[in-house]
Amino acid sequence: MRSDRSVDSGLEGVVVAESVLSRVDGEGGRLIIRGHDLERLATSASYEEACALLWEGAEPGDGSAARYRELLARARNDAGAHLPALRGALQRRDGMDALRGSLAQLEPPHDDPIAQAAALTGATAVFAGAWARLRRGQAPLPPDPSLDHASDALRMATGSPQPQAARALGRYLVTVVDHGMNASTFTARVVASTGSDMVSAVVAAVGALKGPLHGGAPGPVLDMLDAIGEGGDARAHLRARLSAGERIMGMGHRIYRVRDPRAAVLEDALELLSPASPGRGRLRVARAVERAAGELLRERHPGRRLEANVEFYTAVLLDALGLDRAQFTPTFATGRVAGWCAHVLEQRATGRLIRPALRYVGPVPGLAA
Ligand code: COA
Repeated sequence: MRSDRSVDSGLEGVVVAESVLSRVDGEGGRLIIRGHDLERLATSASYEEACALLWEGAEPGDGSAARYRELLARARNDAGAHLPALRGALQRRDGMDALRGSLAQLEPPHDDPIAQAAALTGATAVFAGAWARLRRGQAPLPPDPSLDHASDALRMATGSPQPQAARALGRYLVTVVDHGMNASTFTARVVASTGSDMVSAVVAAVGALKGPLHGGAPGPVLDMLDAIGEGGDARAHLRARLSAGERIMGMGHRIYRVRDPRAAVLEDALELLSPASPGRGRLRVARAVERAAGELLRERHPGRRLEANVEFYTAVLLDALGLDRAQFTPTFATGRVAGWCAHVLEQRATGRLIRPALRYVGPVPGLAA
Protein backbone atom coordinates (compact mmCIF):
# COMPACT_ATOMS: atom_id res chain seq x y z
CA MET A 1 0.00 0.00 0.00
CA ARG A 2 1.38 3.43 -0.93
CA SER A 3 1.86 5.94 1.81
CA ASP A 4 -0.68 8.71 1.40
CA ARG A 5 2.28 11.12 1.24
CA SER A 6 3.73 9.64 -1.96
CA VAL A 7 2.81 11.26 -5.28
CA ASP A 8 3.67 9.77 -8.68
CA SER A 9 3.24 12.98 -10.63
CA GLY A 10 4.40 11.50 -13.96
CA LEU A 11 3.04 7.98 -13.23
CA GLU A 12 6.53 6.79 -14.21
CA GLY A 13 6.69 3.01 -13.91
CA VAL A 14 3.08 2.75 -12.70
CA VAL A 15 1.41 -0.20 -14.42
CA VAL A 16 -2.28 0.48 -15.10
CA ALA A 17 -3.10 -2.22 -17.64
CA GLU A 18 -2.01 -5.53 -19.11
CA SER A 19 -1.71 -5.40 -22.86
CA VAL A 20 -0.92 -7.72 -25.74
CA LEU A 21 -0.38 -4.76 -28.06
CA SER A 22 3.18 -3.53 -27.52
CA ARG A 23 6.16 -3.79 -25.23
CA VAL A 24 8.84 -1.12 -24.87
CA ASP A 25 12.09 -2.51 -23.46
CA GLY A 26 14.12 0.57 -22.56
CA GLU A 27 17.23 -1.31 -21.41
CA GLY A 28 17.37 -3.74 -24.34
CA GLY A 29 16.28 -1.19 -26.96
CA ARG A 30 13.57 -3.51 -28.18
CA LEU A 31 10.03 -2.66 -29.29
CA ILE A 32 7.64 -5.56 -29.72
CA ILE A 33 4.34 -4.98 -31.53
CA ARG A 34 1.91 -7.78 -30.74
CA GLY A 35 4.54 -10.52 -30.88
CA HIS A 36 6.71 -8.98 -33.61
CA ASP A 37 9.97 -7.09 -33.33
CA LEU A 38 9.42 -3.65 -34.80
CA GLU A 39 12.41 -3.91 -37.14
CA ARG A 40 10.89 -6.95 -38.84
CA LEU A 41 7.32 -5.72 -38.82
CA ALA A 42 8.20 -2.33 -40.32
CA THR A 43 10.18 -3.87 -43.15
CA SER A 44 7.80 -6.74 -43.95
CA ALA A 45 4.26 -5.60 -43.15
CA SER A 46 2.07 -2.97 -44.76
CA TYR A 47 0.21 -0.45 -42.63
CA GLU A 48 -2.97 -2.41 -43.40
CA GLU A 49 -1.36 -5.57 -41.96
CA ALA A 50 -0.23 -3.66 -38.88
CA CYS A 51 -3.87 -2.57 -38.33
CA ALA A 52 -5.11 -6.15 -38.74
CA LEU A 53 -2.46 -7.36 -36.30
CA LEU A 54 -3.30 -4.75 -33.67
CA TRP A 55 -7.08 -4.81 -34.01
CA GLU A 56 -7.69 -8.54 -34.49
CA GLY A 57 -4.40 -10.31 -33.84
CA ALA A 58 -4.31 -11.32 -37.54
CA GLU A 59 -0.75 -12.36 -38.44
CA PRO A 60 0.85 -10.45 -41.32
CA GLY A 61 0.89 -12.61 -44.45
CA ASP A 62 -2.19 -14.56 -43.30
CA GLY A 63 -4.47 -12.98 -45.88
CA SER A 64 -5.55 -9.94 -43.91
CA ALA A 65 -3.80 -7.51 -46.29
CA ALA A 66 -6.41 -7.54 -49.07
CA ARG A 67 -9.35 -7.39 -46.64
CA TYR A 68 -7.82 -4.49 -44.75
CA ARG A 69 -6.80 -2.69 -47.92
CA GLU A 70 -10.46 -2.68 -48.91
CA LEU A 71 -11.61 -1.76 -45.41
CA LEU A 72 -9.30 1.26 -45.17
CA ALA A 73 -9.94 2.32 -48.78
CA ARG A 74 -13.68 2.34 -48.06
CA ALA A 75 -13.07 4.30 -44.87
CA ARG A 76 -10.99 6.91 -46.73
CA ASN A 77 -13.71 7.19 -49.36
CA ASP A 78 -16.39 7.71 -46.72
CA ALA A 79 -14.23 10.36 -45.04
CA GLY A 80 -13.63 12.02 -48.42
CA ALA A 81 -17.39 12.42 -48.85
CA HIS A 82 -17.44 14.56 -45.68
CA LEU A 83 -14.73 16.96 -46.87
CA PRO A 84 -17.03 19.69 -48.29
CA ALA A 85 -18.93 19.87 -44.99
CA LEU A 86 -15.69 19.96 -42.97
CA ARG A 87 -14.00 22.90 -44.69
CA GLY A 88 -14.50 25.15 -41.67
CA ALA A 89 -13.05 22.61 -39.24
CA LEU A 90 -10.10 21.94 -41.55
CA GLN A 91 -9.14 25.54 -42.23
CA ARG A 92 -7.07 25.93 -39.10
CA ARG A 93 -3.49 27.09 -38.84
CA ASP A 94 -2.48 24.10 -36.72
CA GLY A 95 -2.91 20.66 -38.24
CA MET A 96 -3.73 19.03 -34.92
CA ASP A 97 -6.53 21.56 -34.33
CA ALA A 98 -7.84 20.68 -37.78
CA LEU A 99 -7.70 16.95 -37.02
CA ARG A 100 -9.36 17.37 -33.63
CA GLY A 101 -12.25 19.41 -35.08
CA SER A 102 -12.82 17.27 -38.16
CA LEU A 103 -12.54 13.86 -36.48
CA ALA A 104 -14.96 15.05 -33.78
CA GLN A 105 -17.67 15.30 -36.40
CA LEU A 106 -17.43 11.68 -37.55
CA GLU A 107 -20.25 9.28 -36.87
CA PRO A 108 -18.86 5.80 -37.41
CA PRO A 109 -21.18 2.77 -37.18
CA HIS A 110 -22.21 2.00 -33.60
CA ASP A 111 -22.20 -1.77 -33.76
CA ASP A 112 -18.93 -2.85 -35.44
CA PRO A 113 -15.76 -1.89 -33.53
CA ILE A 114 -13.39 -2.79 -36.38
CA ALA A 115 -15.40 -0.61 -38.75
CA GLN A 116 -15.17 2.21 -36.20
CA ALA A 117 -11.38 1.82 -35.97
CA ALA A 118 -11.11 1.75 -39.77
CA ALA A 119 -13.33 4.85 -40.10
CA LEU A 120 -11.10 6.82 -37.74
CA THR A 121 -7.86 5.57 -39.28
CA GLY A 122 -9.01 6.28 -42.84
CA ALA A 123 -10.36 9.68 -41.88
CA THR A 124 -7.15 10.77 -40.15
CA ALA A 125 -5.15 10.28 -43.36
CA VAL A 126 -7.80 12.06 -45.44
CA PHE A 127 -8.22 15.00 -43.07
CA ALA A 128 -4.45 15.46 -42.52
CA GLY A 129 -3.96 15.57 -46.30
CA ALA A 130 -6.91 17.91 -46.87
CA TRP A 131 -5.71 20.29 -44.15
CA ALA A 132 -2.22 20.44 -45.70
CA ARG A 133 -3.63 21.22 -49.15
CA LEU A 134 -6.05 23.86 -47.88
CA ARG A 135 -3.20 25.50 -45.98
CA ARG A 136 -1.34 25.92 -49.25
CA GLY A 137 -4.43 27.34 -50.92
CA GLN A 138 -5.04 24.14 -52.91
CA ALA A 139 -8.24 22.09 -53.14
CA PRO A 140 -8.10 18.79 -51.17
CA LEU A 141 -7.45 15.72 -53.27
CA PRO A 142 -10.21 13.11 -52.97
CA PRO A 143 -8.99 9.70 -51.76
CA ASP A 144 -8.05 7.08 -54.33
CA PRO A 145 -9.38 3.69 -53.18
CA SER A 146 -7.19 1.85 -55.70
CA LEU A 147 -4.09 2.77 -53.65
CA ASP A 148 -2.76 1.28 -50.44
CA HIS A 149 -3.14 3.42 -47.34
CA ALA A 150 0.42 4.81 -47.21
CA SER A 151 0.47 5.68 -50.93
CA ASP A 152 -2.87 7.43 -50.72
CA ALA A 153 -1.91 9.27 -47.52
CA LEU A 154 1.24 10.55 -49.24
CA ARG A 155 -0.63 11.50 -52.41
CA MET A 156 -3.30 13.42 -50.48
CA ALA A 157 -0.65 15.19 -48.36
CA THR A 158 1.90 16.06 -51.04
CA GLY A 159 0.13 15.59 -54.37
CA SER A 160 2.71 12.95 -55.31
CA PRO A 161 2.31 9.17 -54.94
CA GLN A 162 5.95 8.37 -55.84
CA PRO A 163 6.25 4.61 -55.10
CA GLN A 164 9.63 4.62 -53.30
CA ALA A 165 8.51 7.51 -51.12
CA ALA A 166 5.20 5.75 -50.41
CA ARG A 167 7.10 2.65 -49.25
CA ALA A 168 9.19 4.80 -46.96
CA LEU A 169 6.08 6.49 -45.55
CA GLY A 170 4.52 3.04 -45.03
CA ARG A 171 7.52 2.09 -42.92
CA TYR A 172 7.18 5.27 -40.92
CA LEU A 173 3.45 4.69 -40.28
CA VAL A 174 4.12 1.13 -39.05
CA THR A 175 7.09 2.32 -36.97
CA VAL A 176 4.98 4.78 -34.98
CA VAL A 177 1.77 2.72 -34.88
CA ASP A 178 2.07 1.85 -31.19
CA HIS A 179 4.46 2.45 -28.31
CA GLY A 180 3.27 1.19 -24.95
CA MET A 181 1.43 3.45 -22.55
CA ASN A 182 2.52 6.79 -23.99
CA ALA A 183 0.54 9.92 -23.06
CA SER A 184 -1.92 9.94 -25.97
CA THR A 185 -2.57 6.20 -25.71
CA PHE A 186 -3.17 6.57 -21.99
CA THR A 187 -5.58 9.42 -22.77
CA ALA A 188 -7.49 7.23 -25.22
CA ARG A 189 -7.66 4.42 -22.67
CA VAL A 190 -8.90 6.72 -19.90
CA VAL A 191 -11.74 7.94 -22.15
CA ALA A 192 -12.55 4.38 -23.25
CA SER A 193 -12.51 3.22 -19.63
CA THR A 194 -15.52 5.43 -18.88
CA GLY A 195 -17.57 3.57 -21.50
CA SER A 196 -17.38 6.51 -23.90
CA ASP A 197 -17.20 6.06 -27.68
CA MET A 198 -14.16 5.57 -29.91
CA VAL A 199 -14.44 8.96 -31.64
CA SER A 200 -14.23 10.70 -28.26
CA ALA A 201 -11.23 8.59 -27.26
CA VAL A 202 -9.36 9.37 -30.49
CA VAL A 203 -10.21 13.07 -30.40
CA ALA A 204 -8.87 13.25 -26.84
CA ALA A 205 -5.71 11.41 -27.91
CA VAL A 206 -5.19 13.92 -30.73
CA GLY A 207 -5.29 16.64 -28.08
CA ALA A 208 -2.62 14.86 -26.05
CA LEU A 209 -0.38 14.25 -29.06
CA LYS A 210 -0.52 17.94 -29.96
CA GLY A 211 1.54 18.85 -26.89
CA PRO A 212 5.21 19.59 -27.61
CA LEU A 213 6.37 17.17 -24.92
CA HIS A 214 4.73 14.28 -26.76
CA GLY A 215 4.15 14.59 -30.52
CA GLY A 216 6.52 17.51 -30.32
CA ALA A 217 8.06 18.97 -33.40
CA PRO A 218 11.03 17.18 -34.89
CA GLY A 219 11.32 20.58 -36.62
CA PRO A 220 14.11 21.71 -34.26
CA VAL A 221 16.13 18.66 -35.34
CA LEU A 222 15.89 19.87 -38.94
CA ASP A 223 16.86 23.39 -37.92
CA MET A 224 19.90 22.01 -36.13
CA LEU A 225 20.96 19.90 -39.13
CA ASP A 226 20.52 22.87 -41.44
CA ALA A 227 22.52 25.13 -39.13
CA ILE A 228 25.42 22.63 -39.19
CA GLY A 229 25.12 21.70 -42.88
CA GLU A 230 27.20 19.26 -44.91
CA GLY A 231 30.86 19.51 -43.93
CA GLY A 232 30.06 21.78 -40.96
CA ASP A 233 31.78 21.39 -37.60
CA ALA A 234 29.10 19.42 -35.73
CA ARG A 235 31.14 19.09 -32.53
CA ALA A 236 31.79 22.83 -32.24
CA HIS A 237 28.15 23.66 -32.99
CA LEU A 238 26.77 21.16 -30.48
CA ARG A 239 29.31 22.08 -27.80
CA ALA A 240 28.19 25.72 -28.09
CA ARG A 241 24.55 24.68 -27.72
CA LEU A 242 25.26 22.54 -24.66
CA SER A 243 27.35 25.30 -23.11
CA ALA A 244 24.38 27.64 -23.58
CA GLY A 245 22.30 25.17 -21.51
CA GLU A 246 20.35 23.86 -24.52
CA ARG A 247 19.44 20.24 -25.10
CA ILE A 248 20.33 18.47 -28.29
CA MET A 249 17.04 17.75 -30.00
CA GLY A 250 16.38 14.19 -31.08
CA MET A 251 18.73 12.78 -28.42
CA GLY A 252 17.73 11.09 -25.16
CA HIS A 253 14.53 9.32 -24.12
CA ARG A 254 12.55 8.81 -20.94
CA ILE A 255 12.46 5.02 -21.33
CA TYR A 256 15.24 3.99 -23.73
CA ARG A 257 18.70 3.75 -22.22
CA VAL A 258 20.11 2.71 -25.60
CA ARG A 259 19.43 3.95 -29.11
CA ASP A 260 15.69 4.04 -29.80
CA PRO A 261 15.06 1.06 -32.11
CA ARG A 262 12.72 3.21 -34.21
CA ALA A 263 15.60 5.53 -35.10
CA ALA A 264 17.36 2.66 -36.90
CA VAL A 265 14.22 1.68 -38.83
CA LEU A 266 13.65 5.24 -40.02
CA GLU A 267 17.33 5.71 -40.86
CA ASP A 268 17.14 2.58 -43.03
CA ALA A 269 13.90 3.76 -44.64
CA LEU A 270 15.82 6.76 -45.98
CA GLU A 271 17.92 4.32 -47.99
CA LEU A 272 14.77 3.53 -50.00
CA LEU A 273 14.93 7.00 -51.52
CA SER A 274 16.79 7.62 -54.73
CA PRO A 275 20.48 8.56 -54.37
CA ALA A 276 19.59 11.91 -56.01
CA SER A 277 17.04 12.76 -53.30
CA PRO A 278 18.00 15.83 -51.22
CA GLY A 279 17.12 13.70 -48.18
CA ARG A 280 20.30 11.69 -48.78
CA GLY A 281 22.46 14.78 -48.17
CA ARG A 282 20.63 15.47 -44.93
CA LEU A 283 21.09 11.82 -43.96
CA ARG A 284 24.87 12.22 -44.19
CA VAL A 285 24.69 15.34 -42.01
CA ALA A 286 22.34 13.59 -39.58
CA ARG A 287 24.71 10.65 -39.14
CA ALA A 288 27.66 12.95 -38.50
CA VAL A 289 25.63 15.02 -36.03
CA GLU A 290 24.36 11.93 -34.22
CA ARG A 291 27.94 10.66 -33.85
CA ALA A 292 29.20 13.98 -32.52
CA ALA A 293 26.19 14.41 -30.20
CA GLY A 294 26.65 10.90 -28.79
CA GLU A 295 30.34 11.58 -28.03
CA LEU A 296 29.66 14.93 -26.38
CA LEU A 297 26.76 13.61 -24.31
CA ARG A 298 28.85 10.65 -23.14
CA GLU A 299 31.56 13.06 -22.00
CA ARG A 300 29.06 15.26 -20.16
CA HIS A 301 26.83 12.54 -18.72
CA PRO A 302 29.04 9.47 -18.26
CA GLY A 303 26.42 7.83 -16.05
CA ARG A 304 23.44 8.35 -18.38
CA ARG A 305 23.15 6.99 -21.90
CA LEU A 306 21.64 9.60 -24.20
CA GLU A 307 21.25 8.24 -27.71
CA ALA A 308 19.20 9.14 -30.79
CA ASN A 309 15.44 8.89 -30.38
CA VAL A 310 12.67 8.40 -32.95
CA GLU A 311 12.41 12.13 -33.66
CA PHE A 312 15.97 12.42 -34.93
CA TYR A 313 15.36 10.46 -38.13
CA THR A 314 11.62 11.24 -38.31
CA ALA A 315 12.62 14.80 -39.13
CA VAL A 316 14.99 13.73 -41.90
CA LEU A 317 12.62 11.15 -43.37
CA LEU A 318 9.39 13.17 -43.42
CA ASP A 319 11.20 16.17 -44.85
CA ALA A 320 12.70 13.98 -47.57
CA LEU A 321 9.21 12.74 -48.43
CA GLY A 322 8.14 16.29 -49.23
CA LEU A 323 6.23 17.00 -46.02
CA ASP A 324 6.83 20.33 -44.36
CA ARG A 325 7.48 20.81 -40.64
CA ALA A 326 3.83 21.66 -39.86
CA GLN A 327 2.77 18.28 -41.25
CA PHE A 328 5.02 16.21 -38.98
CA THR A 329 2.65 15.84 -36.01
CA PRO A 330 -0.49 15.21 -38.13
CA THR A 331 1.54 12.53 -39.97
CA PHE A 332 2.49 11.01 -36.62
CA ALA A 333 -1.25 10.93 -35.78
CA THR A 334 -1.94 9.27 -39.16
CA GLY A 335 0.23 6.35 -38.03
CA ARG A 336 -0.58 6.29 -34.30
CA VAL A 337 -4.39 6.42 -34.70
CA ALA A 338 -4.54 2.67 -35.35
CA GLY A 339 -2.70 2.07 -32.07
CA TRP A 340 -5.14 4.32 -30.19
CA CYS A 341 -8.08 2.37 -31.66
CA ALA A 342 -6.46 -0.96 -30.69
CA HIS A 343 -6.05 0.28 -27.12
CA VAL A 344 -9.67 1.41 -27.01
CA LEU A 345 -10.75 -2.09 -28.10
CA GLU A 346 -8.48 -3.71 -25.52
CA GLN A 347 -9.57 -1.35 -22.75
CA ARG A 348 -13.22 -2.08 -23.50
CA ALA A 349 -12.57 -5.81 -23.44
CA THR A 350 -10.36 -6.10 -20.39
CA GLY A 351 -10.15 -2.83 -18.49
CA ARG A 352 -11.85 -1.11 -15.60
CA LEU A 353 -12.63 2.54 -15.07
CA ILE A 354 -9.26 4.34 -14.75
CA ARG A 355 -9.66 6.63 -11.82
CA PRO A 356 -6.49 7.51 -9.90
CA ALA A 357 -6.40 9.59 -6.74
CA LEU A 358 -4.93 12.91 -5.75
CA ARG A 359 -3.62 14.11 -2.44
CA TYR A 360 -5.55 17.15 -1.27
CA VAL A 361 -3.21 19.83 0.09
CA GLY A 362 -5.76 22.66 0.36
CA PRO A 363 -7.36 24.03 3.50
CA VAL A 364 -9.85 21.96 5.49
CA PRO A 365 -12.68 23.90 7.14
CA GLY A 366 -12.39 23.73 10.90
CA LEU A 367 -8.68 22.82 10.90
CA ALA A 368 -6.01 25.43 11.59
CA ALA A 369 -3.74 26.07 8.57
N1 COA B 1 20.71 17.04 -24.71
C1 COA B 1 21.48 17.42 -23.67
N2 COA B 1 21.35 16.96 -22.42
C2 COA B 1 20.36 16.09 -22.19
C3 COA B 1 19.52 15.63 -23.23
C4 COA B 1 19.72 16.15 -24.52
N3 COA B 1 18.95 15.78 -25.56
N4 COA B 1 18.63 14.76 -22.73
C5 COA B 1 18.89 14.66 -21.42
N5 COA B 1 19.94 15.46 -21.10
C6 COA B 1 20.57 15.61 -19.79
C7 COA B 1 19.67 16.47 -18.89
O1 COA B 1 19.99 17.84 -19.03
C8 COA B 1 19.98 15.92 -17.52
O2 COA B 1 21.18 16.50 -17.12
P1 COA B 1 21.44 16.87 -15.55
O3 COA B 1 21.33 15.55 -14.83
O4 COA B 1 22.80 17.46 -15.57
O5 COA B 1 20.35 17.83 -15.20
C9 COA B 1 20.25 14.44 -17.79
O6 COA B 1 20.59 14.34 -19.18
C10 COA B 1 19.02 13.57 -17.54
O7 COA B 1 17.92 14.12 -18.24
P2 COA B 1 16.39 13.98 -17.82
O8 COA B 1 15.69 15.29 -18.02
O9 COA B 1 16.28 13.32 -16.49
O10 COA B 1 15.88 12.97 -18.86
P3 COA B 1 14.36 12.65 -19.15
O11 COA B 1 14.24 11.19 -19.18
O12 COA B 1 13.44 13.38 -18.26
O13 COA B 1 14.22 13.31 -20.57
C11 COA B 1 13.87 13.72 -22.81
C12 COA B 1 13.95 12.64 -21.72
C13 COA B 1 13.47 13.04 -24.11
C14 COA B 1 12.78 14.76 -22.47
C15 COA B 1 15.23 14.40 -22.96
O14 COA B 1 16.22 13.45 -23.27
C16 COA B 1 15.23 15.54 -23.97
O15 COA B 1 14.85 16.66 -23.63
N6 COA B 1 15.62 15.26 -25.26
C17 COA B 1 15.60 16.28 -26.26
C18 COA B 1 14.19 16.48 -26.82
C19 COA B 1 13.73 15.32 -27.67
O16 COA B 1 14.45 14.84 -28.53
N7 COA B 1 12.49 14.88 -27.45
C20 COA B 1 11.90 13.79 -28.17
C21 COA B 1 11.76 12.57 -27.30
S1 COA B 1 11.12 11.19 -28.19
